[in-house]
Amino acid sequence: MSKAEAPLIDPSEPFVVPRHVAIIMDGNGRWAAARGLPRTEGHRRGVEALRKTVRAAGELGISFLTIFSFSSENWSRPASEIRDLMGLLRRFIRNDLAELHQSRVRVRVIGQRNDLADDIRRLLEEAEELTRDNDGLTLVVAFNYGARQEIARAAERIASEVAAGRLAPEAVTADLIARHLDAPDLPDPDLIIRTSGEQRLSNFLLWQAAYSELVFVPIYWPDFDRSALEDAIGEYRRRERRFGGLVAQAGS
Ligand code: FPP
Repeated sequence: MSKAEAPLIDPSEPFVVPRHVAIIMDGNGRWAAARGLPRTEGHRRGVEALRKTVRAAGELGISFLTIFSFSSENWSRPASEIRDLMGLLRRFIRNDLAELHQSRVRVRVIGQRNDLADDIRRLLEEAEELTRDNDGLTLVVAFNYGARQEIARAAERIASEVAAGRLAPEAVTADLIARHLDAPDLPDPDLIIRTSGEQRLSNFLLWQAAYSELVFVPIYWPDFDRSALEDAIGEYRRRERRFGGLVAQAGS
């Protein structure tokens, strides 16, 4: 059998999962439009897909799951849609936090918090605080997040250190920049999945994605589930196996 024909998942091998999976949950609006439903309904069903995916990620043994929930650019949507998305986040945290905590999920948040409504900021902080010591899946919620903005924040903090004379300009390395990002202790994503067939990163984790495998799936986010996640991981494993072979040869 040629490499191209090999099955994605060899049943005789353990199901190796990437440590960190990040997802661009795209296509809620198109899912709704295809059914003659309001966009809100697409987002509501998107939250259900999110619940399923978080559960599946934990069961599959993924350590870190990052989700793109609200981008810095989403503020340009109509006010009513922004209200809906904020409302969904509020409900997601209020309704699901206890269950996430019980499942030992640790919640982390990346993105710009300053310009969020006070109650949203407090809810995000509460979720992080309550789940701080959990040892299960880490769910990283990218909210009011943009990668260029994150890198600019890191640059600003580093520039302040240099201006204050605490850091020499030549000490600014890629590693130092990485340590000034929003969640510097997290590993880079091994796999980034985008639903809806669009093939771009849209300002998501641009720094951290340097070596990530990108998998684009044609289905809209509300249709995403455990089986779609397993398929994307299968695609990732096929690519990683090829890459692993080259690395082994280089080192031998
Ligand atoms: C993309 O669909 C999705 C978003 C802008 C937000 C993702 C949000 C959710 C899954 C629900 C909210 C969850 C939380 C935790 C806040 P789109 O509207 O861009 O779809 P389209 O490209 O088809 O219009």
